[in-house]
Amino acid sequence: MMAPVQILGVAKCVPEKIVTNVDLESLVDTSDEWISKRTGIKTRHVAVEETAIGIAASAARDALAMSGIPAEEIGVIVACTITGEELTPSLAGRVQKALNISNCAAMDVSAGCTGFLYALITAASLMETLHKDAAIVVASELMSKYTDWTDRSTCVLFGDGAGALVLKRSEIAHLLYPILDATPDVDDVIVVKKEERATPFSGPVDDKKEYIRMKGADVFTYAVGVLEGTLRRLAEQCGEKPYTKIVPHQANEKIIDFVVRSMRMSREQFFVNIANYANTSSASIPIALCDAWESGWLNAGDRVALVGFGSGLTSGGAVIDWTIPNKNETK
Ligand code: ACO
Repeated sequence: MMAPVQILGVAKCVPEKIVTNVDLESLVDTSDEWISKRTGIKTRHVAVEETAIGIAASAARDALAMSGIPAEEIGVIVACTITGEELTPSLAGRVQKALNISNCAAMDVSAGCTGFLYALITAASLMETLHKDAAIVVASELMSKYTDWTDRSTCVLFGDGAGALVLKRSEIAHLLYPILDATPDVDDVIVVKKEERATPFSGPVDDKKEYIRMKGADVFTYAVGVLEGTLRRLAEQCGEKPYTKIVPHQANEKIIDFVVRSMRMSREQFFVNIANYANTSSASIPIALCDAWESGWLNAGDRVALVGFGSGLTSGGAVIDWTIPNKNETK
């Protein structure tokens, strides 16, 4: 069971360097027109000096400052990344260290681009199990490190960034109707292998660098199916108080357009910022929530559906009753 929680802080951190579609024209045989038309992507942030740990810590620090919760009250940190610098300790452990939080539960979850929803629901559940009053949920990805910059079919799609939320136990639940799902990826439609490592007991290994490998059309079919299916399930759960806004995983604008048409919804109900960031994997939903709030699109009183989908093949959803007032009103 999840603790009844409210979101009190939201923040993002993206690397400074912006790479445009036109910049990519000099790396691979592509064009701004092809990328824009097929994906909606215009620019992405790419790490130069930044690390996944560093941008995660920065987003978490800003979200915590916004929440007004003292660091020592944080009882749980759940982080997610598929592109972190270290196998261990966890990204959550590194964020804990950076924020100088002396005692809390800290762990990572891995669920591809759905990682943030898995992390969010895990954090709220751990708050209940461990009787903790506040949690940080943070996603951070440097997709550029696992992108094959000679492969035009994937390198145009991804970007780097981090986003974080701070949860606080509340009287009434504002995080509702959790859905976490997975179906086996029998055709390996999205895989990033680890490099093989030789030991004194193994045979010789292939030490070639490994990158994101994706069967784009299959991912597209999977994504539209679960986006639509999860939205329908959340709508049923909401009953007479429907969600009115949707913050989906930002993988490709065409996935969202497809579902808008198939469900006969209004495009204005969907928050879309993929043009500026490309697909930042698990970080895309918290970055989108942050931008949605900062731009005034998301306001206190809004009921918003979150939907994620990604490698695994995983998917997930939840509904949030947003309570943070419009940024201009909080000043
Ligand atoms: N620039 C120019 N041409 C390109 C590029 C490029 N960057 N990439 C592929 N092409 C070419 C192909 O080589 C192909 O050429 P051909 O017809 O001569 O063989 C042609 O464009 C069409 O290729 P398709 O792969 O069929 O293009 P499609 O319309 O399916 O679009 C895309 C590809 C954008 C990847 C689409 O399949 C897609 O968005 N799939 C979803 C993938 C996704 O969202 N992944 C995110 C990661 S996982 C996640 O977040 C869940």
